[in-house]
Amino acid sequence: MNNKINKTLIIGLGLIGGSLAKALKINRKFGQVIGYDRDPEETQKGLQIGVVDIAAESLAEAVEEADLIVLAVPVKAMEKVLVDIAPFISEETLITDVGSTKANVVDAAKRVFSALPVGFVPGHPIAGSEKSGVDAADESLFEKHKVILTPLAESSSEAVNVFTHMWQSTGAEVLKMDVEKHDEVLAATSHLPHLLAFSLVDTLAQEQDNNTDIFRYAAGGFRDFTRIAGSDPTMWHDICLANKGAILAQLDCFTHGVSKLRAAIDNGDSESLLGTFTRARAAREHFSRILSGTAYSQGMSEQNVTFRTQPGGSVKGRIRVPGDKSISHRSIMLGSLADGVTEVTGFLEGEDSLATLQAFRDMGVVIEGPNDGEVTIYGVGLNGLQEPPGPLYVGNSGTSMRLLSGLLAAQSFDTELTGDASLTKRPMGRVADPLRLMGAEIETAENGRPPLKIKGGQALKGMHYDMPMASAQVKSCLLLAGLYADGETSVTEPAPTRDHTERMLTGFGYSVKQENATAAVSSGGQLHATRIDVPADISSATFFMVAAAISPGSDLTLEHVGINPTRIGIINILRLMGADIELQNEREVGGEPVADIRVKYTPLKGIHIPEDQVPLAIDEFPALFVAAACAEGTTVVSGAEELRVKESDRIQSMVDGLKTLGVDIEGTPDGAIIKGGSIGGGVVESHDDHRIAMSFCVASLRATDEITINECANVATSFPRFVELAQMAGIKVEKEEG
Ligand code: S3P
Repeated sequence: MNNKINKTLIIGLGLIGGSLAKALKINRKFGQVIGYDRDPEETQKGLQIGVVDIAAESLAEAVEEADLIVLAVPVKAMEKVLVDIAPFISEETLITDVGSTKANVVDAAKRVFSALPVGFVPGHPIAGSEKSGVDAADESLFEKHKVILTPLAESSSEAVNVFTHMWQSTGAEVLKMDVEKHDEVLAATSHLPHLLAFSLVDTLAQEQDNNTDIFRYAAGGFRDFTRIAGSDPTMWHDICLANKGAILAQLDCFTHGVSKLRAAIDNGDSESLLGTFTRARAAREHFSRILSGTAYSQGMSEQNVTFRTQPGGSVKGRIRVPGDKSISHRSIMLGSLADGVTEVTGFLEGEDSLATLQAFRDMGVVIEGPNDGEVTIYGVGLNGLQEPPGPLYVGNSGTSMRLLSGLLAAQSFDTELTGDASLTKRPMGRVADPLRLMGAEIETAENGRPPLKIKGGQALKGMHYDMPMASAQVKSCLLLAGLYADGETSVTEPAPTRDHTERMLTGFGYSVKQENATAAVSSGGQLHATRIDVPADISSATFFMVAAAISPGSDLTLEHVGINPTRIGIINILRLMGADIELQNEREVGGEPVADIRVKYTPLKGIHIPEDQVPLAIDEFPALFVAAACAEGTTVVSGAEELRVKESDRIQSMVDGLKTLGVDIEGTPDGAIIKGGSIGGGVVESHDDHRIAMSFCVASLRATDEITINECANVATSFPRFVELAQMAGIKVEKEEG
């Protein structure tokens, strides 16, 4: 097939046909543009106002001349036009259409042609306005809009390529889908809302006594909702009949939703009403963020965020970093499984904990917020979760996936847990294997990687498990499964790890047996709703503690930080290195110890970090590597092989980055040897790992030159507004997005 297009014929010079013609006429990539409309006046007008190069008088001649034909006529007229053009097309002719439904166009083509032409690729630009006619032609109508092509088995790949390029040349984004899927998707996202808008206006206009008044006083909501009822009635009539099956299915689904809402209002069922509204609002925000490319479900890493730092400075003042990530996750999980309403304050509104929140909403839990860190969870009880409508997507969050897997293994329904590209590389065998020993049925991808397919309806048995690695996630996963398993489930850890699950279960009135390194739960209990005040996250505070510890002149206080003994490795290690750290105003908040942490600069010295501190500072090592690079002498990190399976291989990420900045550092299988000295400038990679990005940002305080840090979008997983807070404290960092 010859792909050089000398002449493109647009049949039908309405809004879509006219706009496409005009865009192609301007960009000149598809030869001369011939226009044909069944109304000769429209054709002539197209020529006069510069929408087409040539106004065709005879359709037959124009078809014979054209290499590429676009049918921009209403769906109902499609068959008639195909009949008219069929005798004049050649084997080489490329044909597409712009109809809003596809199955009926393909059926029409099948009736007209004995064999479908290889050049035929149905299409649908998702663009338009309430205007119509060639006068409304707008060459930018398709810019940044989606065009769906629905290639058929007969369509040649050359034809698909040409049409892809044609639409791309108008600024559109081209997607491909099969015909049936297209019609289903459009029935839900376009056809149903149009029908509802038409129906609402019609119903109000006909059925109310004072309809003039109603319309006179109808404010923004009504206007916004019914804007699309101004669209072309004939076109929508045709679409309804053309896509009957898919539209009826969506209409039934919607009717069911409305009847549920009606019943909830009738019965004064607040929980159900709030459930519908909060879920809908969350879903809408979710969609908007997906569309703007900022949602966790879009894969944060697809967004391009770069940090650019200037060297030097110090940090001063008082700041409060966001809520603890581990505690935030658990507050949603246990709050959802409790009986009664749990109020959370200080919740971390980061992508990771929001992923957990969304997962529970997907399983039918009504959750209000977060608003300024406040979340209200209407617990459904241990057995009240419902089957989610699709896979539970947890983005970058290992904690969500691992903890949820324990819980889901015991539910009556099947679930699938999926994550972003980085999470999909992380090991899940560490939870799947022991859960299987308890009787769970879990399928993983190769080498125990996500997604996890969890079969519901399995009766779990309690067991004792000696954890081969010090992991709070594995421990918590098994304890959560233990809430449902027959008998007792106990876990022994090789070294102390964070105990937020145990503490919070106790806070919810669920008994946890703790003996030395073993934690145990038995099933049959109940969680009672409570209040949770989430302290500031010591792992986020770490970046500022290190910042103050390495930059002369610093004196910074971090407020209300959680200092759970299983999390304070960073304080212990920095103190061993000589840091000046003072804990002020120590208190206990909802079962977790909290303090204000004041850090003043004093020179640090290198040490061999005691291995027993490693699990207590597991998330803090990227920042500790920076502290070590600024210390006098050598720092040795060992026993920290777990760092290799975090959001990135954190040993490798830090070794590579610090080397780029001129630091004398060698990686070892379980750690690194870092010689303190000076830090230069350069471009470093964060490998989509939030903590690596923030650590290099802190390094800038002691750098001699500018540091550029790539791939920083995932900082939002644990520390929204990090850059603003860092700037406030005195770090010279700018965020660039693009
Ligand atoms: C977490 C436990 C740690 C930590 C992670 C959060 C938790 O992981 O790295 O950021 O909330 O339980 P491991 O338990 O796998 O070490």
